[in-house]
Amino acid sequence: MATTASLPAGIPETHPAVAIVAVRKPLQIISVPTEAPGVGEVLVHVLWTSSTPLDLHKADGGLLVTPGKPTVQGGSLAGTVAALGPEDPTLPDRRQLQVGDKVFGFAHRSEREAGFQTYLTTSAYMLSKLPPNLTLSQAVAVPTNLITAFHAITNDLGLALPWPVPATGWSPPPSVADKPILVWGAASSVGFYALQVFRHWGYRNVTAVASAKHHAELTKLGAAACFDYHSPDVAEQILAAASPEGSAAAEPRIPFILDCIGSRDGSLRPLTKIAERGSKVAVMLPVIDVHASADVLPEYEMDMSRVLAGEWDEGVELIGTRTHNFLNNTFFRDYLQTEIVPTLLEQGVIQPNRLRIVEGKTLLERAQNALGLLRERAPSGEKLVWRVADEE
Ligand SMILES: NC(=O)c1ccc[n+]([C@@H]2O[C@H](COP(=O)([O-])OP(=O)(O)OC[C@H]3O[C@@H](n4cnc5c(N)ncnc54)[C@H](OP(=O)(O)O)[C@@H]3O)[C@@H](O)[C@H]2O)c1
Repeated sequence: MATTASLPAGIPETHPAVAIVAVRKPLQIISVPTEAPGVGEVLVHVLWTSSTPLDLHKADGGLLVTPGKPTVQGGSLAGTVAALGPEDPTLPDRRQLQVGDKVFGFAHRSEREAGFQTYLTTSAYMLSKLPPNLTLSQAVAVPTNLITAFHAITNDLGLALPWPVPATGWSPPPSVADKPILVWGAASSVGFYALQVFRHWGYRNVTAVASAKHHAELTKLGAAACFDYHSPDVAEQILAAASPEGSAAAEPRIPFILDCIGSRDGSLRPLTKIAERGSKVAVMLPVIDVHASADVLPEYEMDMSRVLAGEWDEGVELIGTRTHNFLNNTFFRDYLQTEIVPTLLEQGVIQPNRLRIVEGKTLLERAQNALGLLRERAPSGEKLVWRVADEE
């Protein structure tokens, strides 16, 4: 959206931003213009951000990066409202944001709203007001993957998550409430939020796959059963625990599968043994054929029809999850970040990921350190969170 207003006094005309300048090269700080908010927009002074594996897919794999042009990074933000544009009369506006309010959000559409910079400009509907029970650093760990869970469960698996949830609670129809759902990679940030969403909306038969050390916590978050993906026969164990083969003709034993990892060998290959005709398998894109590391270039696949082709049962529905499309759902555009996310947090329905604060003397050092941790696959049941602007 074009900006018309000028910047309020005290806001710098330019500010520092962390950018990818070339694939697998060190990140750099560049100076970018601070954009005054247009109609329906907000200028945010960014204090915290969080890292996601997509940062690594971009930095080492060149995903969503324009070659030859520095690309400002970051999909999540938490900070304070520095300026407000005029209200957009075409959209519901019930956040009543004020300058100085603490906000957080998932914003991903352009570099002007990227989180790895000290000021960003985004639409008001991309922001949640900080609930009183959370700090900004806790809140910034939430939106990217809570929104991923909402998008994948509704858009890709086709399961209902009505809002508002009536005070008396809501349950799926009995024919659905007990259907087996498998969350592969339940200790990932995506899986952690998906489990909590399933629990709140009354999906009772959810199986979690994660390292054994996470099982007690995942059970508390609603998993009815847990399996360890390190067991060589994990697929057989999961199928044996599901309803006996052939008990309901033409019904897959596990009709809904959420692959929160999208690793060709680490999650999808075992899932070829579990998914049966009629199973829906929603997979976090990109599929990782080769994981990036210090001396190995990553390899990704975005086309699900090419993933382990010929190894799936006929009639398995493979869906590549693309959360960046969640705004196509206009209800989610208008209510997910403005109302649903902060309400669920304030009510304690959703608990944020455990935090791992990434230290570093400068913005660049923190960004680079976070990227190094992603390269080493260090996060385990936690979210990398780090400070953006040094000053409040
Ligand atoms: N396309 C989209 O819309 C979208 C949206 C969000 C995320 N994603 C992608 O989804 C993936 C996960 O993102 P995230 O932020 O949730 O990651 P994350 O929290 O950093 O994931 C780390 C976790 O992955 C688990 N894990 C690793 N390999 C596994 C395997 N083979 N089986 C089961 N669990 C495994 C580890 O579990 P243990 O601790 O148990 O070892 C670890 O806790 C990333 O590739 C990301 O880019 C895609």
